[in-house]
Amino acid sequence: MEKDNTVYITTPIYYVNDVPHIGHAYTTVAADVLARYWRLRGHEVFFLTGLDEHGQKVQQAAAKAGIDPQVHCDKLAPQFEDLWKKLNISNDAFIRTTDPQHKSVVRRYLQQLYDKNLIYKDSYTGWYCTFDERFWTEKDVENGVCPDCKRPVEKLSEHNYFFKMGQYQDRLIEYIKAYPDFIRPESRRNEVLGFLQNQKLSDLSISRPISRLSWGIELPFDRDYVTYVWFDALVNYVSALEYLPRENPVGERFWPANVHLVGKDILTTHAVYWSTMLMALNLPLPGTIFAHGWWTVDGEKMSKSRDNVVDPNTMVDKFGVDAFRYFLLREVPFGQDGDFSQAAMITRVNSDLANGLGNLLSRTLTLIERTQANQIPAPELMGPLEQELRGAAVTLLNETLPHYFERLEFNRALESIWHVVQLANQYVDKTAPWTLAKTDRDAAQLRTVLYTMAETLRCLSLATYPVIPQSAQSLCSQLGLSADFANPLLKDKVEWGGLKPGTAIHKGQSLFPRIENKPGAKPVTESSVPSQQTPATPTPTAPQTLSATPQITIDEFAKIQLKTAKVLSAERVPKSEKLIKLHVSVGTEQRQIVAGIGKKYEPDALVGKTIVIVANLKPAKLMGIESQGMVLAAGDADVRGLLTVLEEVDPGTKVK
Ligand code: MSP
Repeated sequence: MEKDNTVYITTPIYYVNDVPHIGHAYTTVAADVLARYWRLRGHEVFFLTGLDEHGQKVQQAAAKAGIDPQVHCDKLAPQFEDLWKKLNISNDAFIRTTDPQHKSVVRRYLQQLYDKNLIYKDSYTGWYCTFDERFWTEKDVENGVCPDCKRPVEKLSEHNYFFKMGQYQDRLIEYIKAYPDFIRPESRRNEVLGFLQNQKLSDLSISRPISRLSWGIELPFDRDYVTYVWFDALVNYVSALEYLPRENPVGERFWPANVHLVGKDILTTHAVYWSTMLMALNLPLPGTIFAHGWWTVDGEKMSKSRDNVVDPNTMVDKFGVDAFRYFLLREVPFGQDGDFSQAAMITRVNSDLANGLGNLLSRTLTLIERTQANQIPAPELMGPLEQELRGAAVTLLNETLPHYFERLEFNRALESIWHVVQLANQYVDKTAPWTLAKTDRDAAQLRTVLYTMAETLRCLSLATYPVIPQSAQSLCSQLGLSADFANPLLKDKVEWGGLKPGTAIHKGQSLFPRIENKPGAKPVTESSVPSQQTPATPTPTAPQTLSATPQITIDEFAKIQLKTAKVLSAERVPKSEKLIKLHVSVGTEQRQIVAGIGKKYEPDALVGKTIVIVANLKPAKLMGIESQGMVLAAGDADVRGLLTVLEEVDPGTKVK
């Protein structure tokens, strides 16, 4: 991904008249994480995002509102610009395809291709879909509707200009084969290759008659036509470099882009149209075109008609900017489809952020505040536990993270960071500093433990910065560090010991308040008392309490798979009075479930019992132990009794 010292990262330019949603936020946050990572590594980054402002839909919407299309665009653009500020997006420039400089580059390129005889005029008849702004062939269209949006299509015959895309077919196939990282992930690369190898690549219509569409860039060689939106839009990636980088004329040093991030639906336009356009223009191709997956919402396709469009603004207001950024990249491997639900989001915030990183910081600072007069103590005897944590933190920064960030495997990067968070919390549990604090005899050991905790947190601030920049900054400030993340802090290998003993800490607000799992509930403030790590919410035995109990449909209920399970073995989770680890048989499979029933039951009393579990709950970790389901129990905060069945039934029997 490296090209001298420059790194150029792009997002798609979004249609200006779309309402920004989770899909837009997803790509842009991912691009931001890469940009921040590469800046920390000391590279000169140009991170571009922007808006696609021409085309029929904008023209129609402006006409409907009775205003000039440019005025319409100017009114809508801030929706995106404001959202990017709110999401802490560090883009270096924001391109709009109505910028005069962009338009003139598009015209220049069109003229170049026309002069090289790579553009010709021809007549074309086909089925036209106004909504998708594209023609379909006879075989694509069934029952007179668009195969994509299912809206009626009309037969149109018109003269248009065509780009000789077809002639680049073999060259493109060879290129994709020669550069395995050119299209990622691999499954998408294979799709594109399959498409190119199995059918003849046709030429691309790159104009629209001005009589049908006026809101576009006029062709330089025929004023009766405007440029097809995709030709106009794709050129943004190079036109931007001519006029947007602050220090011109450095722009061209950034081309080719290191990575174009796109959604899977617009991969063909990038991998095929854009690549062949670049070949025709004699420009190098981008390093990687990475197609990410799509989000569904609560298991359903996201759409306006379903009224389930996820507004990133609302998510930030509700959960905080970093929690939302973290969730987007942690929940789903980049490249695969994923499902968004507020319940999943709350689980992540509470288990990973509040109980994991937030708790580690609050335990560390409270102990330093109470036992070291607010100053980072000096370490003394680095024992094997300290060495282990130090090794894990340093390897994370110097080896593991570069590997995953550079491969765009964000979820793996985050998993590996949270592995260190978990190790650190386990280290605290094992060394029990609150016990060490009780006698002067252990004072040296206590200082070492507290230093190790604080220094691990310093390393974690560097590791988490690209994804949760605001929290990483707060973490540093609370540790008393004046870390300036505008500096290339990861340029050189990170060494253990950056935190100087004697530094005064500034304990502040908790990094990630736990969220009560009530619909519409605002984040609550976490108590700052150091605690043993508390189980993730929702706790296995404490079903959510609903403020105003909403009704659900039978279909919604049917999504919850309840089953009987037979307890094969049970043991207490060390250092927890509440948690019991169960091995249960669910008929054809066995599961491990961690349940908060330890105050009510002794493990032995459970073996052989048939209980009821939620079988399709996403696995979660409780005190570092994976729980593959949840047991049902009566009671709220306190467990009153486990659910079982009156008659003996086989394990794995459905409960409804
Ligand atoms: N204007 C074009 C891109 C031109 S790039 C030269 C465009 N704009 S868009 O506003 O429709 O962009 C949509 C982006 O959001 C695409 O990358 C698309 O994949 C993404 N998503 C739209 N819905 C999505 C989900 N439900 N989930 C994830 N991303 C989704 O296309």
